[in-house]
Amino acid sequence: MDKMVINGGKRLEGEVRISGAKNAALPVLTSALLVGGCSTFHNIPDLLDIKTIKKLLRSLGVRMEGGETLRIDASGITHCEASYDLVRTMRASILVLGPLVARMGEARVSLPGGCAIGARPVNLHIKALQEMGAEVTLKEGYVEAKASRLKGAEIYFDISTVTGTENIMMAATLAEGTTTLKNAAREPEIVNLAEVLNGMGARIHGAGNDVITIEGVERLHPVEATVIPDRIEAGTFLIAAGMTGGDVRLIGCDPLHLDAPIAKLRDAGMRVDAEGKTIRARGAETLRSVDVKTLPYPGFATDLQAQIMALTALADGLSVITETVFENRFMHVSEMVRMGADITIQGTSAIVRGVPKLRGAPVMATDLRASASLILAGLAAEGTTVLSRVYHIDRGYQEIEKKLSALGADIRRVPG
Ligand code: UD1
Repeated sequence: MDKMVINGGKRLEGEVRISGAKNAALPVLTSALLVGGCSTFHNIPDLLDIKTIKKLLRSLGVRMEGGETLRIDASGITHCEASYDLVRTMRASILVLGPLVARMGEARVSLPGGCAIGARPVNLHIKALQEMGAEVTLKEGYVEAKASRLKGAEIYFDISTVTGTENIMMAATLAEGTTTLKNAAREPEIVNLAEVLNGMGARIHGAGNDVITIEGVERLHPVEATVIPDRIEAGTFLIAAGMTGGDVRLIGCDPLHLDAPIAKLRDAGMRVDAEGKTIRARGAETLRSVDVKTLPYPGFATDLQAQIMALTALADGLSVITETVFENRFMHVSEMVRMGADITIQGTSAIVRGVPKLRGAPVMATDLRASASLILAGLAAEGTTVLSRVYHIDRGYQEIEKKLSALGADIRRVPG
């Protein structure tokens, strides 16, 4: 397994282009299942999770060609089953459930099971499909759903769920009648998906708000559409600029999706200026402590919690980082402590006492965002950090070592 070797202490400077959003590309690609015909999607990032969803779609009989621009054709679906082998490597595989039931009348999808960052059930996806008239059974670790045609329904999500909202929004496009989603998630990735679906002829109103209505149609048609920039990758590079006292310009991002992290980084003393699709981030003389609470969008993203914690580890004073979206999402803490950070966990909060310096150490990635935070810590640390289990970072960051090297970081991938 590859390792990432980082010699810390280099100031980052220059420009970096932000890739397409993993969490937008995944549902956009599964939306192709709703259509008999060839759609074209631009700005698809080159990531392990994207390879996994392509493999899953191919196993269903979907044909595709291309890379960053992908032509994808689900005219000849041959299977309606997502196997355990594929779903267990990526929970987002559940995103085939809604489209398959809606278009094919049936789906069999493995339950994702537990995961490093908490239980993460899919009960809300299932309940919503049942409310739309699907007959759902759980057998041998699989969800089996059947419906000759789904029916529009009024659905209230107990918890704001991103993939749950996406799955049911997709399913509802082909349902008979109108579906209303209440307490829907409001993430920009949902707005992107709704735009793609409306481009296919769906009738979705209100995406981006917590009430979304979807008037079902008989069929959808192919579309050409573009995936939004990755706000989590962008946030990670902003934090990297702050932690190395750097001066970094992000190109091709959407500053409007980054209000919460930008506000926190300014509170921490950084200078962050946005113009059009560009953000310039400059480090602070001294980083100040900040308190952060993760929340559904437009709150501070849980997917940036580990990275902002790395920054507060070096800030002057005491920061409290509270995780409200997932339980058990502090696995990076023990690794950061091994690098000299002073962090203690109290329930759902991490109490971070800033230290003047972190020291390089061998560390292990436990999940995608945790590995990003350890790379950040390594960039700012004195000495050498060796990060193992790099495949986690490859799930969600396109060529991170190349992008960081181009900014002046001393980071290389070595086969392990
Ligand atoms: C998505 C993102 C992930 C991000 C997360 C929260 C994708 C592919 N992944 O994950 O990167 O960290 O949103 O912003 O977009 N829950 C239930 N029952 C359900 C569904 C969810 O209890 O049926 C709970 C979860 O355990 C969690 C909370 O709801 O505590 C939010 O999870 P959810 O928004 O569904 O996360 P994902 O869509 O899996």
